[in-house]
Amino acid sequence: KEPLKLAIAGLGTVGGGVVKVLTEEAKRIEALCGRKIEIVAVSARHRQHDRGFDIDAFRWYDDPVAMAADPDSDVFVELIGGSDGAAKLAVEQALASGKHVVTANKALIAHHGTTLARMAEENQVALQFEAAVAGGVPIIKALREGLVANGIERVSGILNGTCNYILTVMETSGREYEDVLADAQKLGYAEADPSFDVGGTDAAHKLTILASLAFGTLPDFDQVYVEGLETVTPLDIRLADDFGYKVRLLGIAQRDGKRMELRVHPTLVGKNSSLAAVTGVFNAVEVVGSHVGPVMLEGRGAGEGPTASAVVADIVDVARGNIAQPFGLPASMLEEASYKPIKD
Ligand code: HSE
Repeated sequence: KEPLKLAIAGLGTVGGGVVKVLTEEAKRIEALCGRKIEIVAVSARHRQHDRGFDIDAFRWYDDPVAMAADPDSDVFVELIGGSDGAAKLAVEQALASGKHVVTANKALIAHHGTTLARMAEENQVALQFEAAVAGGVPIIKALREGLVANGIERVSGILNGTCNYILTVMETSGREYEDVLADAQKLGYAEADPSFDVGGTDAAHKLTILASLAFGTLPDFDQVYVEGLETVTPLDIRLADDFGYKVRLLGIAQRDGKRMELRVHPTLVGKNSSLAAVTGVFNAVEVVGSHVGPVMLEGRGAGEGPTASAVVADIVDVARGNIAQPFGLPASMLEEASYKPIKD
């Protein structure tokens, strides 16, 4: 079989991780797919940067949209980020050019998922975004494949690694949140704009995607009630502890008949609960299925290795021809949901 040719846009923490994982695992991946996976082109903000690999081995593009249009690659791997701008233009260009798209961009999918899923369907290509939700935890695949026999009423959990890291370090050290956030940024967990993490927007992007997959509804970010953890103080955490609780930033999507409720906010969880045991950069997602009951997946939700692991899983799916509908159902069958108003 011909090698699968990749063009990678964005060589930050995640992009660099993807290059490393594909290089280190090349032999095994080739055996799994029955074909080689080759990076043929890359694009990033700065060409000269010490990334620990030789950038001259790949064709270089200043403009990711031009790279997306180049017929020399089969898959466009979008790791630029942001719901609009270059990432959106390049993904649209790639889909319109008949290329598969693999992305880690939750903001893009939460805001434009319906339109992009329709484009992917029309062009008969993949649009895969495992890395967009909960980093290395394969929750998209679980909803789309492993749990497909179930009606789902609720999906909830810890969806932002930066917030969980901040809360749980504050818990044990009593340090202030700005100070711990700086550590999370150094570790490569935080978004380019960390207010998306601490303000709850990043978790809301992920919840939007999960709800669509779980309930078969059109993704609609504007319906999520969002409250971040900027107002949580070390005193709140201490008092919660005195009363037998821990504080976690949760995303909760539940369906009550036809009506849905999507919310992200700091929440008190019992000290002995499974969510209280989730610490550091870890995420945990619980799905309640009509036949299987509750299922919980837990693992690292951010950082180079975990996110690259999910991106590479999507690339391997494309190489094997295992191409799913982006939101499980054909886009034309996704329902418009009605939402419960949630008061401040
Ligand atoms: N900033 C995100 C987080 C990265 O901390 O969870 C993974 O989406």
